[in-house]
Amino acid sequence: MSMLLDVKGLTKRFGGLTANADITFDVKRGEILGIIGPNGAGKSTLFDLITGFQPPDAGEVFLDGRRITGLRPDLVSALGVARTFQKLKPFPDLTVIENVIVGALARTAHMRAARDAALESLAFVDLLEKRNHFARELSTGQRKRLELARGLATQPRLILMDEVTGGVDQRTIPGLVELVLELKRRGVTIVTIEHNMQVMMRIADRILALHAGRRIAFGAPEEVRKDAAVVDAYLGSAADAA
Ligand SMILES: Nc1ncnc2c1ncn2[C@@H]1O[C@H](COP(=O)(O)OP(=O)(O)OP(=O)(O)O)[C@@H](O)[C@H]1O
Ligand SMILES: [Mg+2]
Repeated sequence: MSMLLDVKGLTKRFGGLTANADITFDVKRGEILGIIGPNGAGKSTLFDLITGFQPPDAGEVFLDGRRITGLRPDLVSALGVARTFQKLKPFPDLTVIENVIVGALARTAHMRAARDAALESLAFVDLLEKRNHFARELSTGQRKRLELARGLATQPRLILMDEVTGGVDQRTIPGLVELVLELKRRGVTIVTIEHNMQVMMRIADRILALHAGRRIAFGAPEEVRKDAAVVDAYLGSAADAA
């Protein structure tokens, strides 16, 4: 049986910069695959290539054995792949539920079905009470939940999450982590970019580590964390920041 997601040799160049260099990995049905790497490693770009927001220069993406390389984002979404964005961009002047309905309409043309899916996913992320507030009125943590609800309203079998716990205050993190684990229990396969190593070690079944556009490690969390190239990449970036 094929993997749910198979990524083979994905490569993306922006002018002289290689943001993704020959990245290969796979995602098993039902697992949480974590992606780590210092800033600029190419993590978000990888999501862009998988979900059709950017065309790759080389490489292939297979979903359930079917080639989806370079497919348009709405078509990738229609196949059951959702993503959340690192840079949150809800429509500020739409209400919370309207924002989620817009997401749901990527998967269904029926307003009634979209509304039902939106209500269900808002309940799941515990934002039902805020459904008639404008998106601009939400806190950062609530916007993260809105972003998750928007993705979930497409009823994905695979969701790619870009830093769900990034930029929120410490108290908000456990609730977001619980949501991710509950999604896994419900059978959704998850790929998550996460800078918080504590969170990552708690939730990931396997980890892919990137550095400067390259894959430097891929495997069991304990092994990846101890991997010399991973340790070097993080020490290097800490030194750069100092
Ligand atoms: N549209 C673009 N045009 C030009 N360069 C880009 C573009 N998107 C990303 N890059 C560059 O590609 C590299 C990888 O960026 P990417 O956003 O994928 O990194 P990241 O691992 O997600 O980083 P972060 O942890 O900061 O979110 C960076 O050097 C970035 O500046
Ligand atoms: Mg990023």
